[in-house]
Amino acid sequence: MVKSSLRVRGMSVRFKVPNGSVAAASDVSLDLGEGEVLALVGESGCGKSVVASGLLGLLPGNARVSGAAVLRGPEGEVELLGASQQELSTKVRGRRIGLVPQSAATHLHPVRTIRAQLAETISELGAELDVARAAARAHFPADHLDRYPHQLSGGLAQRAAIALALAGSAWLVLADEPTTGLDRALVHEIVDEFRRIADQGHAVLMVTHDLAAAERVADRVAVMYAGRIVEDSPAKAFYGGPAHPYARGLLNALPEREFRPIPGVPPQLSELPAGCAFQPRCVLATDLCTQLPEPTGEDHIVACHHAHA
Ligand SMILES: Nc1ncnc2c1ncn2[C@@H]1O[C@H](COP(=O)(O)OP(=O)(O)OP(=O)(O)O)[C@@H](O)[C@H]1O
Ligand SMILES: [Mg+2]
Repeated sequence: MVKSSLRVRGMSVRFKVPNGSVAAASDVSLDLGEGEVLALVGESGCGKSVVASGLLGLLPGNARVSGAAVLRGPEGEVELLGASQQELSTKVRGRRIGLVPQSAATHLHPVRTIRAQLAETISELGAELDVARAAARAHFPADHLDRYPHQLSGGLAQRAAIALALAGSAWLVLADEPTTGLDRALVHEIVDEFRRIADQGHAVLMVTHDLAAAERVADRVAVMYAGRIVEDSPAKAFYGGPAHPYARGLLNALPEREFRPIPGVPPQLSELPAGCAFQPRCVLATDLCTQLPEPTGEDHIVACHHAHA
């Protein structure tokens, strides 16, 4: 068992832009326990990838990151947001955190076999692991190791990418939209792989638009809106009926539910309204909502003045 966990507290990311700044993530706190899959969901542009890239130290130079993010694993802990680029590149990325890219096909080397790519990654990381075991960890079939990426199905290419992400025995597996563009059967295959990885004790953070995929695999769901976590709850509670009106809107927009989109569009992150950022789109909004709602709750956290009990 790997026994890893991640604790993010008050993480904020501001991008300096010519006319001011973009509040891409504000006061984000998340807990991800050993063996847990956390799905981070929310509309396009709400800051999900910024949080993921921030944890990996991969934000561009105009980003200012504050807060704390402690990753714990079998050999101790690392504070990710305070770590130097040197530490992140030599000790964290690929080793403590395995990144599963959105599109495996574009990340795999086109003219090298999967065996060669795994061997190279293992040697770069100095990992004590052979190619066959690295492949087996991601259920990549041994008899396909000598194939090139273009000779693989989408699902097997994604498994190869997962095998690469796990080659360094990462504590945390971070996947940003790992199932975009895959058909339903493949989505199931890939998220089930994340379940198996979590069951070995890894913490898995999956950034996704796909609420159905998240329902299949996530233990917890964190909903982000305009850079803030508005609800963070056990997946059962989320899918049973979320407390935040935005989270309810997201679920009701699903074709298999009410198929009713949330009216309006998210605010510009460079011009956020005072108070609750969802207020202009929210049917429950009152004068109270001009004040920022504090997140409340322990296992089920909600930031809304009118949250359903
Ligand atoms: N380098 C940058 N400079 C200024 N703003 C940026 C920069 N990078 C990202 N942003 C802004 O940060 C916000 C959050 O972007 P992010 O990519 O995290 O969204 P997302 O939730 O991952 O969306 P999607 O679901 O489309 O992937 C966006 O409004 C984006 O314009
Ligand atoms: Mg994104």
